[in-house]
Amino acid sequence: MKAVIPAAGLGTRFLPATKAVPKEMLLVHDRPAIQYVVEEGLASAADGVVIVNSHEKKAIEDHFAPDDALVALLRQRGKGAYADEVERVGSLPVDFVYQDEALGLGHAVLCAAERTGSEPFYVLLGDVLVPDNEMLPAMQAVSDAHGGASVIAVMPVPDEEVDRFGIIAGEEVEPGVWKISELIEKPPLAEAPTNLAVFGRYLLTPRVMELLRDVKPGVGGEIQLTDALDALLEEEEMYALVVSPDEGFDTGTRESWLATNIALSQRA
Ligand code: UTP
Repeated sequence: MKAVIPAAGLGTRFLPATKAVPKEMLLVHDRPAIQYVVEEGLASAADGVVIVNSHEKKAIEDHFAPDDALVALLRQRGKGAYADEVERVGSLPVDFVYQDEALGLGHAVLCAAERTGSEPFYVLLGDVLVPDNEMLPAMQAVSDAHGGASVIAVMPVPDEEVDRFGIIAGEEVEPGVWKISELIEKPPLAEAPTNLAVFGRYLLTPRVMELLRDVKPGVGGEIQLTDALDALLEEEEMYALVVSPDEGFDTGTRESWLATNIALSQRA
């Protein structure tokens, strides 16, 4: 079972900062965003972490590559703690596949299909952080309790933000666990069945990869993961685990990136 981390997007909302620095490499408190995500994947039940990268975002690969010269220089200068950390990050087992063009999250996930094979897989958005690493095990437990079904994390959002997210409909089957009946992309508040927004952590059955192959490009030519999940709902049960705003942080906008930095530095 693999943990797939899509990180090949354009980071448009951070331009011009993300012209030369990938969004996923922006510092969040004490490390680049994607390092939290890789560490979370490695702490999970997955037996490997696969980053879906773009050829334009080489800095992500450089970050996880060994740098013996830098480590030696730091040791020579008596900076052993930094040397240890550089060495540790450079030895994290991370694999890369490539998305040649940013054709949407669904397309990015599909680019990892050869690595995930016929097993379930996790998807961890490369700009969404779960610093305590506890969400994937909790999602796995929900899946195990429901015959290996797909499980997505959802977070309650304020009414005024409902129209910015994918929102679930369904029924609560036990405290904090919903059986999903429908996924509604960015509904007006009046049409939103809940305020539970899809949060950036998914545990998906291998059927999703097959369904993604048939998803037609939507707005902007993008292939949406949500469309494959809609199709999955026709065939399989799907559950949602409700997570709280202090468990996970979306760093995908300048405001949320700044808020995450403040929250995590206050925790340290
Ligand atoms: P986002 O929509 O937050 O990232 O996707 P983005 O597309 O880079 O941001 P904007 O909209 O241009 O500002 C969530 C995650 O999915 C990845 C992104 O890199 C991010 O980590 N992604 C998105 C891909 O890998 N490929 C895509 O085609 C789109």
